[in-house]
Amino acid sequence: MNVDGKPYRSIWLGADGEQVEIIDQALLPHTFQVVTLRTLSDAARAIREMLVRGAPLIGATAAYGFCLGLRDGAADDDLARIGEELIICRPTAVNLRWAVERMQRILSPLEPGKRMQAAYAEAARICEEDVAVNEAIGSHGLALIEEAWQRRGRSGAVSVLTHCNAGWLATVDWGTALAPIYKAHARGIPVRVWVDETRPRSQGAALTAWELAAAGIEHQLIVDNAGGHLMQHGEVDLCIVGTDRTTASGDVCNKIGTYLKALAARDNSVPFYVALPGSTIDWTMDDGFKIPIEERSGDEVLWVPGRTRSGQVEQVRIAPEATTAVNPAFDVTPAHLVTGLITERGVCEASATGLAGLFPEMV
Ligand code: MRU
Repeated sequence: MNVDGKPYRSIWLGADGEQVEIIDQALLPHTFQVVTLRTLSDAARAIREMLVRGAPLIGATAAYGFCLGLRDGAADDDLARIGEELIICRPTAVNLRWAVERMQRILSPLEPGKRMQAAYAEAARICEEDVAVNEAIGSHGLALIEEAWQRRGRSGAVSVLTHCNAGWLATVDWGTALAPIYKAHARGIPVRVWVDETRPRSQGAALTAWELAAAGIEHQLIVDNAGGHLMQHGEVDLCIVGTDRTTASGDVCNKIGTYLKALAARDNSVPFYVALPGSTIDWTMDDGFKIPIEERSGDEVLWVPGRTRSGQVEQVRIAPEATTAVNPAFDVTPAHLVTGLITERGVCEASATGLAGLFPEMV
């Protein structure tokens, strides 16, 4: 996608063909800064501290982090060492494990001397696949927005509510939940996006709003508690969100607060779709409540970053000094609340049968 007229992806290889460049998403929307990852520790820190975030991008960064780690040794022990260092960075997004295991599977049969080159080739393949997969998700999701446009009698704008950031910044390009919106906009279908602020880290306000503004797509920021009210008043045609891990039975685990939107959507007969690449499905799990939920620092709840009127980016505390906070980063939306899963292979029911129908080789 374009930033100030220049095409960007969220991760790419530097000019030397070895170092890895990312956009520091922790600084957006106030500062656009490219950061170079030179070592495995750089990549691990970028994932842990959320310079990169979003399940597919975490996977792509892990793949390139693997390449950087091989610079300190490419023996069998190193493959295990690198995997261990990466996999503990964030527990919920299954793409991290998926990417690490894919790299290990490709590299372990090779001679150590051949592993580095193969690793860079595989990381590049993971990125290219991600772009193609997300574009396909966009095309399948576009059909749902077109249907909503028909239901509206092709008048006004189709209102889509989204939570967190599942746009191009969360993937290598296109995004998952936002890909259908980008496609609809390009097709000339008027779309208006309700952007959930997504406390505590405000990925909606900081990242989704930034993406949509850059693309010239109509959007409005709402506080996390406003979605239910808007649905009650017929202001939401459909919801589309992303997921960090989807079980083989169709439960989805996404940014905290997603579940409440799904409940409100069900109560108001608003279709609730989840967009995901196949790499986000955990085929080993069939109960969403077994997914490990990342617990992050309470400081993210107690302190809010922002730009002051004088232009300084600062953190302000919003609770008394004595108050502590808990900060579960994700929640589980059970399959029965999900209208459909939008994948690169088409839209299916959120169920074991629905997923098995699209991915028969995985069951
Ligand atoms: O904590 P984050 O910002 O990594 O959480 C991101 C999300 O919850 C996204 O919705 C999810 O990763 C899907 S991204 C295509």
